[in-house]
Amino acid sequence: SPSDPDLVERARAAKEKLGDKVFVLGHHYQRDEVIQFADVTGDSFKLARDAAARPEAEYIVFCGVHFMAESADILTGDDQKVVLPDLAAGCSMADMATAEQVAECWDVLTEAGVAERTVPVSYMNSSADIKAFTGKHGGTICTSSNAKRALDWAFEQGEKVLFLPDQHLGRNTAVRDMGMSLDDCVVYNPHRPNGGLTAEQLRDAKMILWRGHCSVHGRFSLDSVNDVRARIPGVNVLVHPECKHEVVAAADYVGSTEYIIKTLEAAPAGSAWAIGTELNLVRRLANRFAPEGKEIVFLDKTVCFCSTMNRIDLPHLVWALESLAEGNLVNRIQVDSETESFAKLALERMLALP
Ligand code: 13P
Ligand code: SF4
Repeated sequence: SPSDPDLVERARAAKEKLGDKVFVLGHHYQRDEVIQFADVTGDSFKLARDAAARPEAEYIVFCGVHFMAESADILTGDDQKVVLPDLAAGCSMADMATAEQVAECWDVLTEAGVAERTVPVSYMNSSADIKAFTGKHGGTICTSSNAKRALDWAFEQGEKVLFLPDQHLGRNTAVRDMGMSLDDCVVYNPHRPNGGLTAEQLRDAKMILWRGHCSVHGRFSLDSVNDVRARIPGVNVLVHPECKHEVVAAADYVGSTEYIIKTLEAAPAGSAWAIGTELNLVRRLANRFAPEGKEIVFLDKTVCFCSTMNRIDLPHLVWALESLAEGNLVNRIQVDSETESFAKLALERMLALP
């Protein structure tokens, strides 16, 4: 079993044997059994920065999903090895934009005469190929904690943004934080000819949103917000910006996982919170803050874990750490050097945002 004391002991022993050679990063959506072994925890932005700040670690064990491990590989030195304890820990949103589809989209934009005025902004939740495309075309990466600053920057470089691959983060940031209207946004559907858009629509739009979404956050609905407000009077609704626009518009607070944690840390005793993000994190926060008299509930009980985040469990972590301790490099995530150089450009633009 994952909470097997034997496994806990083995993970501890392997980590101790590796010492400073290993650095374990844990995303906030990871299971408790895994997060207890993380040297740092964070949102996507913080983990990217922390990975880059550990040049002495030979191994970075990334407890998170594939695109995060790729980003860590891009930002760390060539002699540092990034390990993902289960290679099946992908992200369905990142899979919604392939390199071929995005290249085709750029052709459509070029044909419509808008490509040269368009700056790509790609969410961290994308493959290294998409990040490389972004870097090559003068764009930047963003995360949910700096999306507004990324868009501010992009609109200084050009007139339009192609936002990949999360339509919700793109729309929410444009409308909620930048004062744009819903009409300024169009959705490019990679499964339809010309993205399902006319050249005129592409010319008129300020934000061209890729038709991608998070399968977990996409399930929170306006009904769940209304229901919880009826059930718990005075509740504060706090959601991640990967939620649909109508959910974000009805929420009281919106932000990244790190922001969600900071907000709850600062909340007064006696306050009640409904949280719209991944369940491992919400449960951990509910347990952590209950003794302080803060009531924390999951925004919608029918929404479940992120199944790919959950692939990293204690048995996989033990296997990875013990293999490394025995000198076997397993599950290395390595981005090829051509992709890496362009993807790095885009990631470094993000890290340099004011
Ligand atoms: P953040 O931790 O950056 O808020 O991202 C959430 C997420 O969905 C990562 O997959
Ligand atoms: Fe991807 Fe959504 Fe899971 Fe985050 S929560 S890793 S965006 S599927």
